[in-house]
Amino acid sequence: MDTVVSGIRSTGNLHLGNYFGAIKNFLKMQKENNCYFFIADYHALTTHPKPGDLHGNIKQVLAEYLACGIDPEIATVFIQSDVPEVSELYLLLNMNAYIGELERTASFKEKVRKQPDNINAGLLTYPVLMAADIIIHKANKVPVGKDQEQHLEMTRRFARRFNMMYEVNYFPEPDAYNFGKQLVKIPGLDGTGKMGKSEGNGIFLSDTPQEIRKKVMRAVTDTGPTSPGQKPTEPVENLFTIMSVVSSPETVRFFRDKYDTCEIRYGDMKKQLAEDIILFTDPIRQKISEILSDNRYLAKVAADGAEKARASAAKTVRDVREIIGYRSF
Ligand code: TRP
Repeated sequence: MDTVVSGIRSTGNLHLGNYFGAIKNFLKMQKENNCYFFIADYHALTTHPKPGDLHGNIKQVLAEYLACGIDPEIATVFIQSDVPEVSELYLLLNMNAYIGELERTASFKEKVRKQPDNINAGLLTYPVLMAADIIIHKANKVPVGKDQEQHLEMTRRFARRFNMMYEVNYFPEPDAYNFGKQLVKIPGLDGTGKMGKSEGNGIFLSDTPQEIRKKVMRAVTDTGPTSPGQKPTEPVENLFTIMSVVSSPETVRFFRDKYDTCEIRYGDMKKQLAEDIILFTDPIRQKISEILSDNRYLAKVAADGAEKARASAAKTVRDVREIIGYRSF
């Protein structure tokens, strides 16, 4: 059985993009693999969340994982900071990570551009912590999106470097894993690019029906097709893409036909889209609030997950210390 590790940072509520880009894959993988799904709350510190927000953010994502169907009876579901062993492996891996390669990482360069007043060392070594998350459980597969592929490449490099340096074959080199064509990149509502957390662009799993209707009705479109068979512009194609994951094929075909014959009314399409999104998200939203009100359950899931993850992590750290040459007196 393969070991799978993946995490999501606790920096905001999960949206449809997270669901169709990541969680849906987790649900498929949990049945056939030894899965570790965690909340990357150490990684979340790179953007300096307020102490009063940190715990609530973690709790929210945990409840959302569970509401989506991640099953803590099958998968190991845990919170990164509950497994301090990861910080020891991170420290040890940092000794073999070079400043040059870390500075060249695309995500680091982007942060330097976007937040010039907070270029902290945690951002620089972000890929090292991510590598520690993954190899601490000796994972072979990591379901991640395109934006994380470079980090995974670095994880493989750090694993290989450790093996070479100590002449062992200890860490497997994990592969990025997705379901290829079944993985849908969900666009946002603001006309371009993928769904994100910015205002009005993303639909959160915890949004109420009213919020969803309002966001969808405000989504960017255009002035409408002018000749039959015309290719939709990006904002309109984006709405069709979202529709393709939440609506029935008949509904999608109906509006595609309307578009092709220039009879489409975007208002009608948006109304239908909003209702289909609600049909999909509303059971999840209700589950999220049910789970959030059951603190004992959340505490138990977190404690059980931490125990399982720590057992696996502690074994790796013990082995690694031994390989590096630490001995007891
Ligand atoms: N860097 C990932 C992201 O931003 C989150 C993450 C942290 C992760 N550690 C990981 C993903 C380990 C997969 C495996 O989405």
